[in-house]
Amino acid sequence: MPFVERVFSGVQPTGNLHLGNYLGAIVNFVKMQETHSCIYCVVDMHAITQGVDVWGGPAELTRNTREVTAAFIAAGIDPKKHIVFNQSQVSGHAELAWIFNCVARMGWLGRMTQFKEKAGKDRENASVGLFDYPVLMAADILLYRATHVPVGEDQKQHLELSRDIAQKFNNDFGESIRAQGANDGLFFPLPEPLITGPATRVMSLRDGTKKMSKSEASDNSRINLTDDADTIAQKIRKAKTDPEPLPTEEKGLDARPEADNLVGIFAALSGRSKADVLREFGAGQFSSFKNALAELCVTKLAPIAGEMKRLVADPGHIDAILNDGSDRARAIADETMKLSKDIVGFIRRR
Ligand code: TYM
Repeated sequence: MPFVERVFSGVQPTGNLHLGNYLGAIVNFVKMQETHSCIYCVVDMHAITQGVDVWGGPAELTRNTREVTAAFIAAGIDPKKHIVFNQSQVSGHAELAWIFNCVARMGWLGRMTQFKEKAGKDRENASVGLFDYPVLMAADILLYRATHVPVGEDQKQHLELSRDIAQKFNNDFGESIRAQGANDGLFFPLPEPLITGPATRVMSLRDGTKKMSKSEASDNSRINLTDDADTIAQKIRKAKTDPEPLPTEEKGLDARPEADNLVGIFAALSGRSKADVLREFGAGQFSSFKNALAELCVTKLAPIAGEMKRLVADPGHIDAILNDGSDRARAIADETMKLSKDIVGFIRRR
């Protein structure tokens, strides 16, 4: 029996939601609602995997959790038709992560580039949670037996690991799964990453070879979803470029990372292809392209920023959305946990 198609994805509440999060992930979250049943999670448990100085402490975490929820809704996610919740409200995430900890291999996790980047040189001092981050991520997805996961390109390796964990679980417990009569020995689907659109990897505005990121020290390197119109326009005007005019064809963007990035952002925000954008702006000066890009950014992002502001002003309303979403998420999660425990051989209360 094939798995029912279901979408799951998550965003960390670590502050400074930016254009990369929006174009690489949230825009696609919104789109997937038309065709799939979707679950979107504010992954507060992932957010605490780095030092408290990085994630900012309890008050900041609460504030950021509400802000990401507000961003989801302001961008167009419907929390009534789909599910929006925060991870820590559903205990199954931690429970399934434990079972997966015993399935995943140290060697697999040791190869994760995100861990290497975030841990830096002082690996001995990284939290166990940071090392284990991708296992919790696999648990997030598979707790709902989700089949499709919209993410930015930087999450591809983590998705591959989720597939490896699902596959090894299915193999290790194949007999037990068949005994339960589930899906000819397949209990978990192998989730597919959905990495789509012209901006799957939005780069820093200061350096086209570096990913746009929450943690980059310079605020000018990114456009935050909460930036006002003037700030957005100023950041685009200051964005690094090269002295050449824009090319007329996409091939001309090779080896020009800053130009490629800005054209990609324009394409993604306007729903056009890069080739189409270059047909309009190719051979022209950067300054006029930048003016058009700044205007487009403001038109698309200012309404979202405004709506986010309105929503975060009423934390009670946001918390009610998260409570309701968690209740509905828990109902699905509990069923998966019950079956997972039976498959592993844990005796559970009947
Ligand atoms: P986070 O919060 O770091 O990123 C959220 C989403 O934004 C995408 N993204 C980008 N896309 C394009 N260009 C960029 N510069 C850029 N920066 C970030 C990320 O790829 C991501 O899709 N580990 C996840 C959170 C998570 C998750 C999950 C995702 C936890 N459990 C289960 C999917 C399924 C993350 O990177 O969050």
